[in-house]
Amino acid sequence: MKIILSSKAHHATIIKFMLADEAKRSPAPAIADFKGEKDEVAVRYNGDRTIIYCGLGEKSKYSTLQIRAAAARGIQKAIDLKRGDVSLVSPQVLSRGEAEACLEGVLLGADKFTKYKSDKPKTPVLVEMVTKSPRPVLRTLQAVCDGTLAARALVNENAHTIVPEYLARYARRICKAGKIACTVLDEKELARKGLGLIVAVGQGSPHPPRLIIMEYRGDKGTKNKTALIGKGVTFDSGGQNLKPTGSLETMRQDMAGGAAVLGIMQALGTMKPKINVVGIVPAVHNAIDGTAYFPGDIYKSYNGKTVEISSTDAEGRLILADAITYCQKHCAPSRIIDLATLTGAILVALGDTIAGLFCNNDELARALFNAGEKTGERLWRLPLYEEHHEIIKSDSADLCNTSKLKKGTAGSIAGAAFLEEFVENLPWAHLDIAGVAYNEKTARGEVPQFGTGFGVRLLLEYLLNYTE
Ligand code: BES
Ligand code: ZN
Ligand code: ZN
Repeated sequence: MKIILSSKAHHATIIKFMLADEAKRSPAPAIADFKGEKDEVAVRYNGDRTIIYCGLGEKSKYSTLQIRAAAARGIQKAIDLKRGDVSLVSPQVLSRGEAEACLEGVLLGADKFTKYKSDKPKTPVLVEMVTKSPRPVLRTLQAVCDGTLAARALVNENAHTIVPEYLARYARRICKAGKIACTVLDEKELARKGLGLIVAVGQGSPHPPRLIIMEYRGDKGTKNKTALIGKGVTFDSGGQNLKPTGSLETMRQDMAGGAAVLGIMQALGTMKPKINVVGIVPAVHNAIDGTAYFPGDIYKSYNGKTVEISSTDAEGRLILADAITYCQKHCAPSRIIDLATLTGAILVALGDTIAGLFCNNDELARALFNAGEKTGERLWRLPLYEEHHEIIKSDSADLCNTSKLKKGTAGSIAGAAFLEEFVENLPWAHLDIAGVAYNEKTARGEVPQFGTGFGVRLLLEYLLNYTE
């Protein structure tokens, strides 16, 4: 889909926006039976023109979130109507941020997972944005949205295609295109170097593990560098602690953190901002065969701490622990942000629209929170105290990969506490995205059904605006 800016509408299909205050204005409503409510879409015909009206809700509650979602609904309606070229008349008096949100809504909202559908919808080829507002920076916007679509597509594709080596090949490809340094450690190097936890989780699969390291250096004048680490479990069967039917069907999403990191690196390669970022993806298939790791066994991590495996289904924290250690030993990060579909418990705590944030640094937590509010990929901070480290101690090893607390209590905190055991003295944030990475329901504005690409826009916003 091509986006252009224009000062006049040229196409027969026009998307327009309206506030509830405006639609209801007495004496006669502006458009019959249209209230301008948030989520509301109405189609009206005028000669050969089709006008798609999108409600923005009350002015008092109006923000970029409403614009983004309304624009997504508008373009989805144009897709339903099989329209090729569309004019999008932006809401009046837009700030640059609002104009960008509007286009983001279009680019993100038009994306639907239809690869395996025989009857594919027709996506508009050209969207012309008619606006008098400050001109959005199309190149940046497009790169950010492309990164999000790439992350979604990686999540949605079959788990028998997206194996660890596939992610490694994908990383090599985007790094080559974006002039980013890329290193991939295979299972032999991982074993030789002693990344015992990644090796253990990956050993039960015919698709061996990989550790992918992508170094983007946009500012050679500084050592300041942000590390992003994404959980890349290409399918999480649970291993010997096999997941039941009902929990398995969506587990190809378990590399969503890794997919987001790949999407971000891809966008950085296109945008070339003046910052330094290292992206790391520990990629494994948590499978079950005769060689799979056993519950009760003890393995040694890359930093030397031993771990009793109390559940082979708490595998994300194991591979992330070794990736965090690797990052600190070899990449000299100024701060680390990991994102992972780590615990089902985060869904219990925060639902499917907000991700959990755990952080050892108030400034970093605040910056990430603000980036979340701006992008609509929201975060809520949860506590992580000294006492939480007690619950992951083991009687037979240094650590245990599940909590000693009663089942169903503080599960997400236990996962975060485990990760923190491997963090040295530097700012670190952990985003638990298990609730938000995959939408099992129907599309919600710019959030599609299936893989959502959560984290790409959030972290690019953070990287581009909060790191100096
Ligand atoms: N990949 C899962 C978490 C998950 C659940 C992601 C639902 C997306 C949707 C993770 O590896 C897992 O199995 N966690 C366990 C941890 C438990 C064994 C301590 C869980 O959440 O039950
Ligand atoms: Zn698991
Ligand atoms: Zn998992």
